Amino acid sequence: MTDHYAVFGNPVAHSKSPRIHALFAVQTGEDISYEKIFVPIAGFAAAVSKFVAEGGRGANVTVPFKEDAFNIAGHLSPCAQAAGAVNTLTFGNGEIAGDNTDGAGLVRDLVTNLGVPIKGQRVLLLGAGGAARGAVLPLLLEQPAELVIANRTAEKARRLADAFASLPACAVSIKHTGCGFGELAGRDYDLVINATSAGLNNASLDLPAGIFAAGSFAYEMVYGRESPFMTEARRAGASVADGLGMLVEQAAEAFAIWRGIRPETQPVLAQLRSEL
Ligand code: ATR
Repeated sequence: MTDHYAVFGNPVAHSKSPRIHALFAVQTGEDISYEKIFVPIAGFAAAVSKFVAEGGRGANVTVPFKEDAFNIAGHLSPCAQAAGAVNTLTFGNGEIAGDNTDGAGLVRDLVTNLGVPIKGQRVLLLGAGGAARGAVLPLLLEQPAELVIANRTAEKARRLADAFASLPACAVSIKHTGCGFGELAGRDYDLVINATSAGLNNASLDLPAGIFAAGSFAYEMVYGRESPFMTEARRAGASVADGLGMLVEQAAEAFAIWRGIRPETQPVLAQLRSEL
């Protein structure tokens, strides 16, 4: 019996998730189907109910429904709770479980694929929207020396940092603070992660010069194009990666949650890269 999965989004036509999960299924021999479902803005809960009634086993959730998915989940993983958003739903026994694999995918791409350490490093996370929020707990759990969250709207970064001060999982007492871009002047970081959506619009971030330490690494969550952040980081001497590996790794985490098997990501990443 084929088990059915899907990605829910609006828009969703561009989604690479069906391709990635099809490659995982071939590699692992798992008997699954995976489709794209375009959902009207106010129709998320109804679309999920219909899919579950038809026998759907799980779903990925993309823009703009990650908070709706958070709200319908009866059980939330610690990462989903911390992110305030869900990108992976699992259906079974009349229950909906919600997880968020984005941050774990980011960490795995950095540490395992790219060989970029986080432990003991000074990490700068740019942005304070949904993408940044999902990354904070997984980054803190890697025990960086410090995590600074900087955002164009400084207050949002401060609020995001404060929100993690009270989480028990962060009792590891990693120093984490929030600030505006201007307050970064005179500081430098080993790892700078761009979780803003500026790259989608080809917009530059108004960052002070000098934030990239010698030998630093710049990670852009947007993939498939050279963003102004990547160009500026290269110019400053940093090593640079885009977010395609994070996309594949977050999918592998979801696949492992659903199927209990972790696929090999390297061949899938190489295949996706060749198809860009
Ligand atoms: P996402 O889910 O992709 O994180 P979001 O929640 O809308 O999307 O958040 C977008 C993030 O990108 C925010 O941190 C936003 O900064 P503001 O809070 O100041 O709006 C940031 N962002 C988007 N365009 C930007 C730009 N041109 N320069 C700097 N930051 C930008």
